[in-house]
Amino acid sequence: MLIRPEQPQDYQQVEQLVQTAFASAEYSDGQEQTLVANLRHNSQAFIPALSLVAEIDQQLVGYILFTKAQVGAQTVLALAPLAVLPEYQQQGIGKQLIQRGHQIARQLGYNYVLVLGHEHYYPKFGYQPAASLGVTVSADFPPANFFACRLLALAVPLQGTVTYAPEFGL
Ligand SMILES: CC(C)(COP(=O)(O)OP(=O)(O)OC[C@H]1O[C@@H](n2cnc3c(N)ncnc32)[C@H](O)[C@@H]1OP(=O)(O)O)[C@@H](O)C(=O)NCCC(=O)NCCS
Repeated sequence: MLIRPEQPQDYQQVEQLVQTAFASAEYSDGQEQTLVANLRHNSQAFIPALSLVAEIDQQLVGYILFTKAQVGAQTVLALAPLAVLPEYQQQGIGKQLIQRGHQIARQLGYNYVLVLGHEHYYPKFGYQPAASLGVTVSADFPPANFFACRLLALAVPLQGTVTYAPEFGL
């Protein structure tokens, strides 16, 4: 399997795979593919090196996107969405996309990633309740599903509420 940055010629296939993956997801508004398309146009938030695809035999089977968000004065990353095609799930592809994303994020100098997601999934990858890392939680972010991951042990502590890119509508 190859994990690589998404290219413009992948856009359509990525949107299709995101839609397919979320069609059977527990939590979905059915618009995750539109969110990806909209975020690509936000040059303040979109980081091409952190829009990653997983490819097997020239087919795109997984996708992960990290965009810029703000906690107080610190710029952090927001992980959303993460999607793996149903027939390729439970094979470690999601895990590898997260780990590669974290590796690139560290290289780019980001200290934290936030995610709103499954309470049994993200703790496997170093995520802990966002409040425990100093992120003030509002009603839009259920505490049991709102996580933060510290990428660098010596990162300056977070302090404040999160502001996502406007495309998230949060
Ligand atoms: C969630 C998703 C990305 C996981 O991808 P995946 O490639 O199947 O995950 P992995 O195979 O890397 O799983 C890694 C570990 O998490 C576990 N896991 C997988 N899906 C899980 C889930 N939904 N809830 C809890 N644990 C899960 C696996 O059993 C595995 O555990 P292990 O390391 O102890 O063996 C995928 O199921 C998906 O695309 N779902 C639909 C879209 C979605 O819900 N995205 C996430 C939004 S928060």
